[in-house]
Amino acid sequence: MSKYTLSALVLATLFAGSLGLTACSSNAEKTANATNSQLDDRAKLMRDWRQANESMKAMIENPASFDAAAFKERADFIAKTADTMWPYFEGEVSKGGDAKDTVWTDAAGFKAKADEFTAAAAALSAAAANATSAADVEQLYKQMASSCGSCHKEYKN
Ligand code: HEC
Repeated sequence: MSKYTLSALVLATLFAGSLGLTACSSNAEKTANATNSQLDDRAKLMRDWRQANESMKAMIENPASFDAAAFKERADFIAKTADTMWPYFEGEVSKGGDAKDTVWTDAAGFKAKADEFTAAAAALSAAAANATSAADVEQLYKQMASSCGSCHKEYKN
């Protein structure tokens, strides 16, 4: 291998390395922009909650369609991801979207709503473990669902 070929190889390696670095730093910029990722992550999780909630609602409204395993899966999903949701609202940097400013100016009130919801979701998930009919979970389902609405009423545009 001639000297020239070797230095061409070295150059090519260096060049590839710097391309790699460029790709990394543009990803780092995206991650550093916490506003976007917190907003995107919470909107996505809220939409997943809506889907799970709608599926449970349909079973409550039509008890003949009650599927204990499916209901439990939806209830568990919401209960297990509740603690994941609230950090997406932490810090001034996460302001925006359809969230009212009161999420941050009345942080204690928002936390109280979040805690109330998290407890309602845990209670529903516990009841769902032994439910054999819609009647077994109806009350706790309604409490959980109304807790979505009561937070939206105060903290979402
Ligand atoms: C403690 C407060 C709180 C609770 C509880 C809550 N949400 Fe939300 N939700 C919000 C806020 C605030 C927003 C606006 C977020 C944003 O736009 O960045 C929102 C946004 C949403 C959105 C719109 C997402 C999008 O596409 O932008 C949906 C759908 C939603 N929530 C469904 C639910 C469901 C279903 C539940 C209950 C299972 C629930 N939420 C519980 C506060 C809450």
